[in-house]
Amino acid sequence: MIAIEPSILAADFTRLGDQAREAEAAGVEGLQIDVMDGRFVPNITFGPGVVRALRPLVGLTLDVHLMIVEPERYLADFAEAGADRLVVHQEACLHLHRVLQSIHELGVQAAVAINPGTSPLVLEEVLDLTDVIHVMTVNPGFGGQTFIHSQVEKIRGLRQMLDEHGQDIPIAVDGGIDSTTAPLVARAGATVLVAGSSIYNSKASVAENVAALRASVT
Ligand code: DX5
Repeated sequence: MIAIEPSILAADFTRLGDQAREAEAAGVEGLQIDVMDGRFVPNITFGPGVVRALRPLVGLTLDVHLMIVEPERYLADFAEAGADRLVVHQEACLHLHRVLQSIHELGVQAAVAINPGTSPLVLEEVLDLTDVIHVMTVNPGFGGQTFIHSQVEKIRGLRQMLDEHGQDIPIAVDGGIDSTTAPLVARAGATVLVAGSSIYNSKASVAENVAALRASVT
């Protein structure tokens, strides 16, 4: 079963609540909230306040992608604001195992993201603490970037690694996901599609874009 998570990074910020509701009405499984600090990535976006504002509007999984240095500083704030899952970057954690333990102690799901230059092997020692592995198919920081095709083989290798470990951990992909690239990553083993531009930045409606994305992997 493929899950679709629109990224609000590409949404119309003047009507974020409506865009979240439109995504829910379109039948998506979650909402990706891209948090950026201007240090881990060269862009600045949202804080816990946006999660708090969206929480009462939708019943979707709020998947908070922390593209920030030292994410351990803000885990409790985002959990308290209503996040269902916190995604930390392996590259941003000096003590990844401890950070994942801390997320679980807050009662929310823990996901680990890896950038295009990072091997999945860095995750081998934390699989038992990982609810979702988030593979970046662009370098993080901005929406609307070009999909990095080399990551398809990484996803395939990661799926094999997880199977060898007997771990049925979902693989999420994030960056340049549309009806053309989604089948490539789905065939390689990804089951969570994070998509911003292909859902919010096109002439068609959110519902039509979600339906097209889902049809591309069905
Ligand atoms: C990058 C962001 C984007 C966003 C999706 O830091 O994480 O990948 O979620 O962007 P699109 O779908 O527009 O490539």
